[in-house]
Amino acid sequence: RKTAPLPDDIRARKGGAPLVSLTAYTTPMAQMMDAHCDFVLVGDSVGMVLHGLPSTLGVTMEMMILHGKAVKRGLSRAMMVVDMPFGSYEEGPEQAFRNAARMMSETGAGAVKLEGGVSMAPTIAFLVARGIPVMAHIGLTPQSINTLGGYKVQGRGDAAQALMADAHAVAGAGAFAVVLEKVPASLADKVTEALPVPTIGIGASAGCDGQILVVDDMLGLFTAFKPKFVKRYATLGEQGEAAIAAYADDVRNRRFPGPEHVFADTTAAKPGDKA
Ligand code: KIV
Ligand code: NA
Repeated sequence: RKTAPLPDDIRARKGGAPLVSLTAYTTPMAQMMDAHCDFVLVGDSVGMVLHGLPSTLGVTMEMMILHGKAVKRGLSRAMMVVDMPFGSYEEGPEQAFRNAARMMSETGAGAVKLEGGVSMAPTIAFLVARGIPVMAHIGLTPQSINTLGGYKVQGRGDAAQALMADAHAVAGAGAFAVVLEKVPASLADKVTEALPVPTIGIGASAGCDGQILVVDDMLGLFTAFKPKFVKRYATLGEQGEAAIAAYADDVRNRRFPGPEHVFADTTAAKPGDKA
C-alpha cells in the first residue's frame, strides 16, 4: 500500500489479519515504523516516556500537537491517530469538537483517540457526525487513574458487564476501533466477538483484532517500570547507556576525537574533506 489507510479501512479489518500499531512521538521513530504498522498512535504516554511526568494528567494540547506534527513528518504509509489529552474533551461535546478539530487540522491526524466508555459515547457520536473519526479507549484508562485507584486490571468478575456496556456504547456511537487496555484475556475475546469494529489490545488478548504497545517500552528505552503486558524486543536503553559510558571513557582518556574525526589545516581541500 502506498497511501495511508483511512479509519474506514481500519474498521474493515475486523476479524481479518491482525492490525499492527505502536506509539510514536518523534519523526525518526515514526520513520522506523511507517513500513510495518497499519497505524501509529501519538499517545499521551509521551508525557511519561519522553517528558518524565509522573502520569498522563499533565499532558497538554500543545504537547500533543507538537509531537503529532513531528510524527506526521515521518509517515508516508501508516495512518496517524493522536490522543486527546486529559481535560481537552471531558467537559462536553462542544469542547471536545473544538479541541479535536484543532488537533486534526494542525497535525494532519487521520483520527483522534479519547478515553471513556458509556460516559463518552455522546461525545464520540457528536465528533463522528461532524467529520472527526474517533478511536475509543476503554478498560484501564490512565487519565482516570485518580478515580480508578491505580493501574489495576479492569473488568474482572462482576465488572465485566460494565466493560461490555462501555464497548457497546463506544461502538454504537460510531468509534471505528476500540483500544482495550489491561482487561482479562477471556473478556477481551468476548468483547472482540461482540463488537462490529476492531478491538486493539494492550494487556488484553492475542484474540483482539490488533495490538498496540508503547514503542519505548518494547524497545527497552523506558525502563522506570515494565508492565506485565510489555514484551521487550530490544534493550536500547542499556545499549545507549553503555555507548555513552564508552564515549565518556574515550574523552577522559583523549581517545576521542581520533585522527579520522579532525581537520588538517590545508588550503587545497581534498576529496572527502568536507566542512
Ligand atoms: O498513550 C498511549 O500510549 C496509549 C496506548 C497505550 C494505547 O493510549
Ligand atoms: Na493514551
